[in-house]
Amino acid sequence: MCGIVGFVGESHAKERIVDGLKRLEYRGYDSAGIALPIGGKIQIRKHVGEIRNLEQIIADDNFDAPMGIGHTRWATHGAPSDVNAHPHGNQDDSIAIVHNGIIENYQEIREWLAREYGVQFKSETDSEVIAHLISIYYDGDLLSAVNKAVEDMRGAYAVCAIAADEPDRIVAVRKDAPLVAGIGRGCNFIASDIPALLKYVREVYFIENNETVVLTRDDITIYNEKGNRVNREVFHVSWDADAAEKEGYDHFMIKEIHEQPKGIRETLLRRVDEEGRINLDGIAMTREGLESFNKVYIVACGTAYHAGLVGKSVIERLAKIPVEVDVASEFRYRDPFVDENTLFIAISQSGETLDTLAALREAKAKGARILSVVNVVGSSVARESDDVFYTWAGPEIAVASTKAYTTQLICMYLIALYMGQTKGVLLQKEYDRILNELRALPEKVEKILTQEEQLAFLAKKYHHKEHVFFIGRGLDCGVSYEGSLKLKEISYIHSFAIAAGELKHGTIALMDPDALVVALATQDSLYEKMVSNIVEVTARGARVIGLAKDGRNEIEQIADEAVYIPECADEVTPVLTVIPLQIFAYYVAKERGCNIDKPKNLAKSVTVE
Ligand code: M6R
Repeated sequence: MCGIVGFVGESHAKERIVDGLKRLEYRGYDSAGIALPIGGKIQIRKHVGEIRNLEQIIADDNFDAPMGIGHTRWATHGAPSDVNAHPHGNQDDSIAIVHNGIIENYQEIREWLAREYGVQFKSETDSEVIAHLISIYYDGDLLSAVNKAVEDMRGAYAVCAIAADEPDRIVAVRKDAPLVAGIGRGCNFIASDIPALLKYVREVYFIENNETVVLTRDDITIYNEKGNRVNREVFHVSWDADAAEKEGYDHFMIKEIHEQPKGIRETLLRRVDEEGRINLDGIAMTREGLESFNKVYIVACGTAYHAGLVGKSVIERLAKIPVEVDVASEFRYRDPFVDENTLFIAISQSGETLDTLAALREAKAKGARILSVVNVVGSSVARESDDVFYTWAGPEIAVASTKAYTTQLICMYLIALYMGQTKGVLLQKEYDRILNELRALPEKVEKILTQEEQLAFLAKKYHHKEHVFFIGRGLDCGVSYEGSLKLKEISYIHSFAIAAGELKHGTIALMDPDALVVALATQDSLYEKMVSNIVEVTARGARVIGLAKDGRNEIEQIADEAVYIPECADEVTPVLTVIPLQIFAYYVAKERGCNIDKPKNLAKSVTVE
């Protein structure tokens, strides 16, 4: 997904911007570029492909600019190419911009600019119109020109602009796309995401929707929509920059898989005190408010949606309240029944997924209370929610979500326990039993991680399969979806997840000796039924990897391979069952030589519809 970095200081803008862009690589991109004001002109350099392509073309440029802007692009309008890469300039490159988001009325603006001003466009992008708009309004004051240009634009944007005549300031503006300003010493930064700044600054200002910010070497001034100065609180970023490095692992994904015991522990520690009480620090929802809810919606995308599937099950079981789970991109378009008695739970690792954000806004407008489960502190979802339940997974860099999922599950359990207890529908004995099960999870995850070699061996054996099916019942069914997504997104193998009981209604037609079935059989109450399903598919020649709890050794008689998770209550199995599936997917992708941390066509943070 697109990334923005801007720097204004005394010198070395080029190096600082390129460094910042590299730290945003994990978001996914297809081209990169930089614009620097040099000797009364703006020099724009951009290239399709990786940042090192850009580095090669600027290596010989003897530029030492005091400021500049840079961008990594993920194509939406117009193919990945040099001309479509950002920054974009006006006709004579005296103005340059970088843009994240989409300008919805760009065609209209394009036609108007061509007709009225004879503008000739260089690229196919929606973004280029911004540079030309600013240019026609520019009369020596970049801030006023940007403000006027914004009035003509519809859509979502974070824009940074520079002018050749003002080589000492950057003007940036945002609407529905993140922007953060970093406070340096004798220099300042602007970026779409905090990791771009972490090497240089720890103190930041979050720029809110419809705000404009002017950065000079010594100042950061934020203006609201009406043009009034805004006093913004400084936010101190406590993340360790090293947390974003691979620390000796081959890929971020496997590093993050190994970080799950820590993330789970941390997420529990932040919310549960020694007596086992769940503390709701920073959550304003009252007991009365909670009792007034007659319905819960959980809305999310991808892996976060899969966490929601488990969330539905545990909230319904423990808190006895009906829960609907929706993929965010569908929620808005089905006119969901939401009112002030609805609790809307948004789950998002990045907190920037546009579909989730849009669904949240829709629910908020209808009066729902918004509780979000988010990993990135200060993200848009977090800031637009009434209450936030943070996952303490730490920065997740690999596109394939792993530690975010397991910590999201922990939040689901804690929310369910709290609601059940507050509503008086969960016996203390049951509360204590589930909480003890949760507290035992980090150690059990550690135990599963010791089976990495066995899973790598299975990956070697089955990595050539063309079709893989994941089946399960009850809570295992939701985890099947996640296992299947993990495998397909990083290994590019076609995989499909289905409730095991549904097999006989059609999908069993695909079972033959070429098929591999991953059968999750961790639910004690459904174990016998899963055994029957495994027998059904092996009878048709499919190979089966069976997953069961320790001690269910008879699975070895019916499945080709057996993988075990430690003994635990049925309710908490998803946190354990998913771990072997993540590791299996990782090693299959590795066997197939895939780009594991940055799979093709995918981005870490999906900020377009
Ligand atoms: O940042 P979010 O949790 O909102 O992202 C949602 C999905 O885009 C994300 O989970 C995606 O499906 C991952 N690639 C899954 O590994």
